[in-house]
Amino acid sequence: MPTKPNFPAAAARRRARLPIVTLLIVVFGARVTRVAGAAAAPHAMVVAESAPAARAGLEILRKGGNAVDAAVATALALGVTNASSCGIGGGGFMLIYWAKTGKLYALDYREVAPAAARADMYMRSGQPDEQLARTGALAVAVPGELAGLDAARRRFGTMEFSRLAAPAIKLARAGFPLNPHMAREIPLIAPLINQDPSFRAIYFNPDGTPRHAGAMLHNPNLAALIESLGDDPDARFYHGEIAAKIADFVKARGGILTAQDLANYRPVWRDPIHLAYDGYDLYTIPPPSSAGVVLEILGMLSNSGVAGLGVDSPAYLARLIEVMRQGFIDRAQYADPAFVKVPIATLLSPQHLAAARERALHHLPAPPAAPAHDHGTSNFAIVDRFGNVVEVTTTVNTIFGAKLMVPSLGLVLNDEMDDFGVAPGVPNVFKLVGEENNEVAPGKRPLSSMSPLIALKNGRPALAVGGSGGPTIISGVAQVTIDTFAYHLNPEAAVRLPRVHQQAHPDLVFIEQNLPFRTRDELAAMGYHLKIVPELGAISAIRIRPGALRGAFDPLKGGGAVGD
Ligand code: GLY
Repeated sequence: MPTKPNFPAAAARRRARLPIVTLLIVVFGARVTRVAGAAAAPHAMVVAESAPAARAGLEILRKGGNAVDAAVATALALGVTNASSCGIGGGGFMLIYWAKTGKLYALDYREVAPAAARADMYMRSGQPDEQLARTGALAVAVPGELAGLDAARRRFGTMEFSRLAAPAIKLARAGFPLNPHMAREIPLIAPLINQDPSFRAIYFNPDGTPRHAGAMLHNPNLAALIESLGDDPDARFYHGEIAAKIADFVKARGGILTAQDLANYRPVWRDPIHLAYDGYDLYTIPPPSSAGVVLEILGMLSNSGVAGLGVDSPAYLARLIEVMRQGFIDRAQYADPAFVKVPIATLLSPQHLAAARERALHHLPAPPAAPAHDHGTSNFAIVDRFGNVVEVTTTVNTIFGAKLMVPSLGLVLNDEMDDFGVAPGVPNVFKLVGEENNEVAPGKRPLSSMSPLIALKNGRPALAVGGSGGPTIISGVAQVTIDTFAYHLNPEAAVRLPRVHQQAHPDLVFIEQNLPFRTRDELAAMGYHLKIVPELGAISAIRIRPGALRGAFDPLKGGGAVGD
């Protein structure tokens, strides 16, 4: 482990992504302090990667709904405004802290591989063709989003689905502004979608150029689809006419998803995984999420004295990089638990964490390889006035998923099949190498990096945090958690702090371009191979104290933080 003298606290050098503008407003009698990219409020809060989606959640809270009701409304609205990242053609994970029981509940509504899926389905003439898992009908896994949202609503919600869907329907029909993040993404994949009349009608000008940020977009077909779900979205989406339309569309394009696959889809309630970390109890999603890696990273750093090293100091970052690498090496053991026994208790045991920490001390950097990329996925967090907390990460995988929209439904289909190992040794779009544990099989859930996390202190919620950006979710959630608890940063400072990422393969250290030059130089001098990237995912968080909520979204991706 390279060690260096402490580096001065970096909070003052935070990347100035957004000016901090504080103003006081009065909403429903509560004093709400708002800052750009962040908010503070006493009772309730929604933070999402879309301002209209955050407002949709708050609207439901104000109508008396709880955090789960609001989560359904926020997720549906987010699927309209951020359709390149998430939506009802995708899937996700929801983590709930339920105040009445004081317990955590994890809901897995991850997509599954269709029944006809096979481990070698992306092999052509003896060679893997990774693009088949990313673009086009063979990339589509069975969507779980609606089944999951409705399962959460039925167990913990208080409102009918149609009421929760109303804000999303209104946005899709009346229009919503194209957000800057999506406006940046669309040109990146324009050649793959700009000849498709459905995408073209929404996201392109009549002359075929991508629309600019702020342009009003409409998706009336998606509005009609959500409206048609009434109060029984599960039955209406996964069976009958809508399921048949989706299956026919996929089949006509050479895919394997069938109406029977949709009918067979079931979300799964799972026991959250837990780690005691420096006086906090951290909870997150078990496999098929690899969020256990977040806990491993934090577990290796627990009680290790990083607090004394200085915020984003080279000494702290070096230690973080080493344990992060060890955590990502273990990621290969994670997979769908219905297919693979994941030794999660062992991976989070004090003995394993101590041994992994010891291995981390002796790591020598290896030669550089290809960089990781940030893509789709979206995250939001909600706290209600009853004390419940919901943290959700949801995705269609890469930008606009499989780059397919079912025209009459306005529905973007995911490319979650790329989260499987497409073939042994072949990296997926995030450069995560396919392992046998995570190979394609019928009915299997692909391994995910989505890591919604809720921290408790003395049994009471203290932090809700999550993010988007493939494997950089894992490193980002770990860093914001450390920055919150070890360095006592508020959420806006924690999410803005430049981050690093090391996922073992490739054996490179990715650093955000805003990391100060002096820190970069010191890391390079330690022997790290650095790759400077514009951004490493987007993290959002709510810091929870009795009567004082403070939330922030990552200004790199934009969003909304609203509260009462
Ligand atoms: N599709 C990104 C993830 O689940 O990690």
